Amino acid sequence: MTSQIPVAVLGATGSVGQRFMSLLDNHPWFKVVALAASDRSVGQPYEKACRWYLAEPLPEWARDMVVVPATPEAIQAKIVFSALPADLAKGLEPQFAQAGFAVCSNASSYRRDADVPLLLPEVNADHIQLIRQQRQNHGWSGCILTNPNCTSTGLTVALKALQDAFGLKKAFVVSLQALSGAGYPGVPSMDIADNVIPYIGGEEEKVEWEPRKMLGKLGVAGVELAEVKFSAHTNRVAVTDGHTVCASVELGLEATPQQAIQAIREYQAPASARSLPSAPQPALVYRDESDRPQPRLDRMTGKGMTSIVGRMRPDPLLHLKFVTLSHNTIRGAAGGSIYNAELLVQEGLL
Ligand SMILES: NC(=O)c1ccc[n+]([C@@H]2O[C@H](COP(=O)([O-])OP(=O)(O)OC[C@H]3O[C@@H](n4cnc5c(N)ncnc54)[C@H](OP(=O)(O)O)[C@@H]3O)[C@@H](O)[C@H]2O)c1
Repeated sequence: MTSQIPVAVLGATGSVGQRFMSLLDNHPWFKVVALAASDRSVGQPYEKACRWYLAEPLPEWARDMVVVPATPEAIQAKIVFSALPADLAKGLEPQFAQAGFAVCSNASSYRRDADVPLLLPEVNADHIQLIRQQRQNHGWSGCILTNPNCTSTGLTVALKALQDAFGLKKAFVVSLQALSGAGYPGVPSMDIADNVIPYIGGEEEKVEWEPRKMLGKLGVAGVELAEVKFSAHTNRVAVTDGHTVCASVELGLEATPQQAIQAIREYQAPASARSLPSAPQPALVYRDESDRPQPRLDRMTGKGMTSIVGRMRPDPLLHLKFVTLSHNTIRGAAGGSIYNAELLVQEGLL
């Protein structure tokens, strides 16, 4: 690509917004030209508006960029990465799509819409074609594409490998979700220190539905949801980054743990999604150690984009059980959105 595509970040000061800034630093295709946030931040240089808390340094080019309002009139770019709260995204994202922007959203507002792709390119890159239908339905020159909630991400990549090899009927899953998943400043320290909180509003419904869309087939009438029954328990734990999910599954054809491990090791992203700049290398990793994956040790595998699986063993209730891990603000949010935008560009749909 000879010239870089201008992009903006909406919600640039938040937990996911900061990840966008870090991951877009030196991106080969995209150049950040605008940063937007709430009235609290508008008019201030980014460095002042945002309390930077990533270990990576705040990119130099971003320090003095003045934060603008999250409106199409205030921004001149081709792609907007949305890290807005869902209630706000609901009203704003269609305005951007109408005005010709491609909106790559982390918010849950449009994930369930029949003509909106819910994408993990290493799982369902072909679903991006829904954009054509979406543009026809709304008369938009722009579009909205979404990535799933951060708990479904690593889980769905692992389930896809098993679904392709053996079929998939049921999944019973229990999450242990990191604090950064609740945004910044997130859960009060007095609530989470020395504690586990066995409730995350709206999360179980998302984990029980979103993988079915991503594991579904794209047909002429849109995505046919995968016929898989899900039951999810979601929990907040005192980990900074990295969502762990313990899963038990019933497969279409019974498989041994060794066969399942082989399917995970051999899994490859669809060809169109393999060599994009943010493509996880590899898409899936299986760890042999009996006590892995662990968030602190394994979340940065493949620059935080790889999904990690371990502890594959027989399940006395269903067929097999295992553990997955993925980085929630990288693969589960900003990195995932950037990967989606790269697929959009590659497919000539921008
Ligand atoms: N955290 C994760 O792991 C994760 C993963 C997947 C998806 N998501 C989704 O991504 C979105 C962002 O999450 P987050 O965790 O980054 O939240 P967050 O840390 O609370 O950040 C929210 C951002 O939105 C901005 N904002 C708030 N009200 C606004 C307004 N009226 N107009 C314009 N901007 C406004 C904030 O700006 P100010 O600083 O100016 O207030 C801030 O930049 C949410 O929809 C969330 O569900 C999060």
